[in-house]
Amino acid sequence: METQELHRFQIGSQYGTADNKCRSCVVIYDSSSSASAAVAAQIADLIRAKAQQGEQAVLGLATGSTPQGVYDELARLHREENLSFQNVVTFNLDEYWPMPPNALQSYHRFMAECLFCHVDVDPANVHIPDGTLPLEKVAAYCTEYERQIRAAGGIDLQILGIGRTGHIGFNEPGSPRNSRTRLITLDKVTRLDAADDFFGEWNVPRKAITMGVGTILDARQIILLAFGEQKTQIIQQAIEAEVTSAVAASFLQARPAVTFSLDQAAAGELKPVKTPWLCGSIVDSGQSWDQRTTKRAVIWLAEKLDKPILKLIEEEYNENGLQELLSARGSAYDLNIQVFKSLQKTITGWPGGKPGRLRRDGSVDVFPKRIVVFSPHPDDDVISMGGTLIRLCEQGHDVHVAYQTSGNIAVFDDEAARHVDFAAEFCRVFELSGNQESRRLERTMQLLASEK
Ligand code: F6R
Repeated sequence: METQELHRFQIGSQYGTADNKCRSCVVIYDSSSSASAAVAAQIADLIRAKAQQGEQAVLGLATGSTPQGVYDELARLHREENLSFQNVVTFNLDEYWPMPPNALQSYHRFMAECLFCHVDVDPANVHIPDGTLPLEKVAAYCTEYERQIRAAGGIDLQILGIGRTGHIGFNEPGSPRNSRTRLITLDKVTRLDAADDFFGEWNVPRKAITMGVGTILDARQIILLAFGEQKTQIIQQAIEAEVTSAVAASFLQARPAVTFSLDQAAAGELKPVKTPWLCGSIVDSGQSWDQRTTKRAVIWLAEKLDKPILKLIEEEYNENGLQELLSARGSAYDLNIQVFKSLQKTITGWPGGKPGRLRRDGSVDVFPKRIVVFSPHPDDDVISMGGTLIRLCEQGHDVHVAYQTSGNIAVFDDEAARHVDFAAEFCRVFELSGNQESRRLERTMQLLASEK
């Protein structure tokens, strides 16, 4: 598969040198599949190099949605390009506790389904924390897990995802730099994020067994993957904010041989991506002051100074890292007008066109129109274009909204039951409901109770 690397820069450095030899760096890909393919290729290189030397490749593996593309690609490499896993030893980061290995949400099951069933790894070489142990046996088990990692010669390459709390493995806020494999209490945010998998937050286990931050940092090489907008903020904190146990992933800044492999969305708040002009010359970094970058910079300046675009002056451009933009694109006056006009063009009071408007071919456009709005969820239309919908209706168009899902899967049964229960109690206390309403509420409760 083709991979497209868009940008690479060293952690803690000013702006992106395209130095492939840099030891700890951020690499931004055009898509998550590109990033996954590049990481899978790196893992495959390691496995083959070790096999050639007659050695084992010791991999540290993560679960969750992020590494699935990597595992798919590794399975493909095994199927189509003879990549053998016979010299591979694996240690997984974590497992919920308690958790039977065959449960839907078990990481044992996840790893089997996503990778191990598709490759020729020796099951004796696979290690995943045991979620079935009684509490009194967990501590000794964790010590033994650490011993097994050491006995295997340590982890050559550790794959990580990142949680919204900044956890790596399940090292929640407060996990010290030198923590080792142990039982941990999951953060509320982590349990909320796992709620979908468990059909409700209340079903998510409160604890997990996880490798420690120290265990992870002992790996010879580390790749942290993060994709999507929901990871943007925490990636910014992990890479650019202070190193702190409040964000376990920030410990990765302080050691070499770490790569953050990101897609564009996850990298969106990093300085070299969001405000590259603050990191040095745009031109020297291989980009140009094209229309898009110019517009972004001017809007950023106006927002930063909380001033209308048309009132920005040269000194403000100069003092905020935009000297190069002024030299490349002319005076502040010209820039302000140019960006203002391009924004103005995107706004219209007539979203369906004005009555009597001429089309390109000279014919008169239809007015009023029949308009279909496609809304993925039942609230997307109102949230994203409520004002436009009102205008379209007021201006006499025949407006229809096509909802693409009922939205029911976004509401857990226990939430629905709680509301029905409340409505029933409310009606009873205030003597509001007739027989029909009571029966309807009762039927709804029965339906929810009988659903699996
Ligand atoms: C799982 C693990 C966690 C996940 C993290 C992100 O083994 O170690 O740290 O990597 O919670 O999960 P996803 O990828 O589902 O967003």
